[in-house]
Amino acid sequence: MSVWKQMTQKAAVQDYLQADQRFEKTMTAKDLMALGIGAVIGTGIFILPGTVAATVSGPGVILSFLLAAVVCATAAMCYAEFASALPVAGSAYSYGNIIFGQFIGWVIGWALILEYMLAVATVSVGFSAYFHSFLQGFGVQLPKAISGAWNPSQHTYINVVAILVVLVISLMLSRGMQTSMKINDWMVLIKIAIIVLFVVVGCFYVKPKNWSPFLPFGTNGMLAGASTVFFAYLGFDAVSSSAPEVKNPQRNLPIGIIGTLIVATILYMAVSTVLTGMLPYSKLNLADPVSYALQYFHLNKIAGIIAIGAMAGMFTMMITMIYSSSRLVYAIGRDGLLPNFLGQVNNKHLPNHSLTVVTIIIALMGGLIDLNQLAELVNIGTLIAFSFVSLGVIFLRKRDDIVNDGFKVPLYPVLPIISLLLCIGLMLKLQRITWIASLIWFAIGAAIYFAYGMHHSHMKNHKI
Ligand code: ALA
Repeated sequence: MSVWKQMTQKAAVQDYLQADQRFEKTMTAKDLMALGIGAVIGTGIFILPGTVAATVSGPGVILSFLLAAVVCATAAMCYAEFASALPVAGSAYSYGNIIFGQFIGWVIGWALILEYMLAVATVSVGFSAYFHSFLQGFGVQLPKAISGAWNPSQHTYINVVAILVVLVISLMLSRGMQTSMKINDWMVLIKIAIIVLFVVVGCFYVKPKNWSPFLPFGTNGMLAGASTVFFAYLGFDAVSSSAPEVKNPQRNLPIGIIGTLIVATILYMAVSTVLTGMLPYSKLNLADPVSYALQYFHLNKIAGIIAIGAMAGMFTMMITMIYSSSRLVYAIGRDGLLPNFLGQVNNKHLPNHSLTVVTIIIALMGGLIDLNQLAELVNIGTLIAFSFVSLGVIFLRKRDDIVNDGFKVPLYPVLPIISLLLCIGLMLKLQRITWIASLIWFAIGAAIYFAYGMHHSHMKNHKI
């Protein structure tokens, strides 16, 4: 087969559906919402409303959150249509394979690996920072050498807490979804309750004069803010990775995806409105602006409770994202584009080989590498996947071999086109360094595809 023919060869839907029958269908719409909210509301809500207001958007950060939500809502509807039409593992990676062919599928998969793994590694470092201050509250101080990424000049060598939290979550996931889901559900409730507590208490300290000037950095600042706060919405797409484990996916997946986004948008706008109303935006450029605002008004106990909420938030975010990365790598291994053992499931129907590999990579990244400069890469990886999913809806509708009795994007084809344009617009607002780093990432991905993936793909002989 010619190289071009193989790159554009489309996966057969039936092969995927059949291969994924080995999963047990246990998840309901409620589980999916909990999974989605668990993934989406992580560190972003506790940090970005403050830092982005102070440096890029001013109180207009409220609108940055709204704009990012609109971009995500259009993409979320496209995801929901795909998830309903194609309830297969691998989310956008598999959609890409079915709609655009193998190479684009691989590019999307590679973008998602970047999104999920880097997002978890970044959040594991955030978790470790909060955990350290939590221990300090009890007078316990961990040695500096084991409290940060490899940086001998600063006398830090390894971030043990970041590694341990990832290992604990993976161990939990390796025993199946039911226990993990129960823990996740509880933590999601705690997290929402704590955010609501902040909004309700903070309301009493709001001074409307702090909201003016509303756009001190102009409209451009508000737009640039949207491309950064976009990070806070990441994760809702992970809901669609669970497709083969969902009961009645046509109904439940769209509810899970869109419901998650609605809840997140309401909470984010409420937190940023209250936070920028409590203090002048210029005072909010800190690692923990939400706690700072409370401490400023001597609400120290509530600040402590918020810190626990932040840890619960990060924990659930990591549960979902580690889960999704393992299902994604499983799907790529199932297709032969990565080594076969990654695409196997054990006698309990769990893809634990892929879980183990994903865990090791994330733990090493979070434990040893300084990720500060790399965090925005998560956004570009996601926006690339969103762009293909949005465009893909147009091609999906043209396929008569794919029947979809469930959710369909409204205002077709206008909405998918708007979604695509918004994603491209946000990507153009990201920093140059992010673009350069992502080009390197995709060059590595292309090298792996041409050197390994295309020669080992099972797609050419329908052996998925
Ligand atoms: N949306 C996730 C967070 O805010 C990535 O932590």
